[in-house]
Amino acid sequence: MQILVTGGAGYIGSHTAKALSQAGYEPVVFDSMEYGHRAAVQYGPLEEGDLADPAALRRVLAKYSFGAAIHFAAYISVGESVREPGKYFRNNFGNTLNLLDGLREAGVGRIVFSSTAAVYGDPLQVPIPEDHRLQPVSPYGDSKLMMERAIGWYGQAYGLRSVVLRYFNAAGADPDGQLGENHEPETHLIPLAIGAALGQNPELHLFGTDYPSPDGTAVRDYVHVSDLAAAHVLAVRYLERGGHSTVCNLGTGAGLTVRQVIDMVEQVSGRKVPVRLSPRREGDAPELVAEASRARTLLGWKPVHSDLRTIVESAYRWHIASAH
Ligand SMILES: NC(=O)c1ccc[n+]([C@@H]2O[C@H](COP(=O)([O-])OP(=O)(O)OC[C@H]3O[C@@H](n4cnc5c(N)ncnc54)[C@H](O)[C@@H]3O)[C@@H](O)[C@H]2O)c1
Repeated sequence: MQILVTGGAGYIGSHTAKALSQAGYEPVVFDSMEYGHRAAVQYGPLEEGDLADPAALRRVLAKYSFGAAIHFAAYISVGESVREPGKYFRNNFGNTLNLLDGLREAGVGRIVFSSTAAVYGDPLQVPIPEDHRLQPVSPYGDSKLMMERAIGWYGQAYGLRSVVLRYFNAAGADPDGQLGENHEPETHLIPLAIGAALGQNPELHLFGTDYPSPDGTAVRDYVHVSDLAAAHVLAVRYLERGGHSTVCNLGTGAGLTVRQVIDMVEQVSGRKVPVRLSPRREGDAPELVAEASRARTLLGWKPVHSDLRTIVESAYRWHIASAH
């Protein structure tokens, strides 16, 4: 079965394309290449195009026979979204409508969507269940919530069936060393900490040391990118079996402090991470941890690479091998 993978030249999309091809699917990557990497498209054809261009999308939808779409394409920087909200609503939300219309015209009735824990905003309870209040605190999170809602309404109107996957913190790299995280600019903790340990960036900014956690730093739920990729394959299979539309958190259910992550980077690299202590950042919740049982029971998902050492070791190997 051919699967349309929008944003498949990016970090999570490329790992998912690999998992799809290992499971016997043919991933067809549709990516503008604005943030994608050609070298990351190894497991099926690359169709270069922008979701802002419905004609380009229509051509690709006509060329293949897709059994489902997996929708990763989006802008992903929370900070940038606060400064330039229009950019985020236009690309993430507006261009998702182009995709949904294209799928409807082409008769593709299944979609797996990359959502985020950012749709919850400041949590009222931790671990966070899927039916928690949805109150994003950034345009990025709000744009992802609007995408979720549009997908839901297209389901009601046209029968589109969907699995919305709300990732917590994606981290790590392909265990075989073929793929990894290569964001530009990078905003994620583990690659930034590795870069600081290796002297590639002067120091790591650690935002907030007065949170109510054992060491005062914020608590997050890190999930290995290959485990995320596996969840997408399971979600496609679930829809193939006729599963009804659903929303699943993807996290381990275990929280780690920023300080614990930095300590692990120091252990794995054998080097000190130079840290600059900075005040809390506005909008950063003290603790974001998934209530993660639904993905296990409904999809049969079980993270197997998401212990902190495996995450950091795989990220470190990739960082060294790709020498950036
Ligand atoms: N990285 C994380 O920790 C994380 C956490 C939660 C959710 N997510 C979601 O996962 C998805 C993938 O994240 P990522 O880290 O792999 O990002 P990424 O930037 O590495 O990949 C996104 C890809 O989408 C492409 N793209 C963007 N707009 C496009 C458009 N209009 N048309 C075609 N292609 C376009 C980019 O070129 C890029 O290759 C995003 O939707 C993001 O919101 C990521």
